[in-house]
Amino acid sequence: MKILVINGPNLNMLGVREPDHYGNETYADLVAKIENHCLTKGVDVKCFQSNHEGDIVDEIQSAYGNADGIVINPAAYTHTSIAILDAVKSVNLPTVEVHISKVEEREEFRQISYIRSACIKTITGHGTDGYLEAIDFLIEDKHNDSNI
Ligand code: DQA
Repeated sequence: MKILVINGPNLNMLGVREPDHYGNETYADLVAKIENHCLTKGVDVKCFQSNHEGDIVDEIQSAYGNADGIVINPAAYTHTSIAILDAVKSVNLPTVEVHISKVEEREEFRQISYIRSACIKTITGHGTDGYLEAIDFLIEDKHNDSNI
């Protein structure tokens, strides 16, 4: 099984950026955590981060025919990007939305998620463990699919 993990703008600043919201782990720590988890689960993973909306759209499109599922934290683009929503709908792969912070308890403008309607699950406020939960959910989802 192949999973693509996408992180949007400013998530490369994890560990430096607003630790009260996002914790002390760096982006490199997050990638190592995801890769180790996937190794134990026998999952092939690619982690991608970009600060640019079009690059994220390109990466989602590249998953078509190459990945079995997507875990995505679109960061601020969650609240603005129809292009990222359309890209996820285009590839039609099971996708889980992750947010490190509890977005539902933050500012009004963070209550909108364009991508949510195209996702099979949303995980918020579980810190970086949320990515691992999302990966496990995709593994379980594929397992259930192949039992039909
Ligand atoms: C975030 C929440 C977003 O509102 C914010 O713009 C981010 C990170 C999160 O992981 O909690 O950059 O997606």
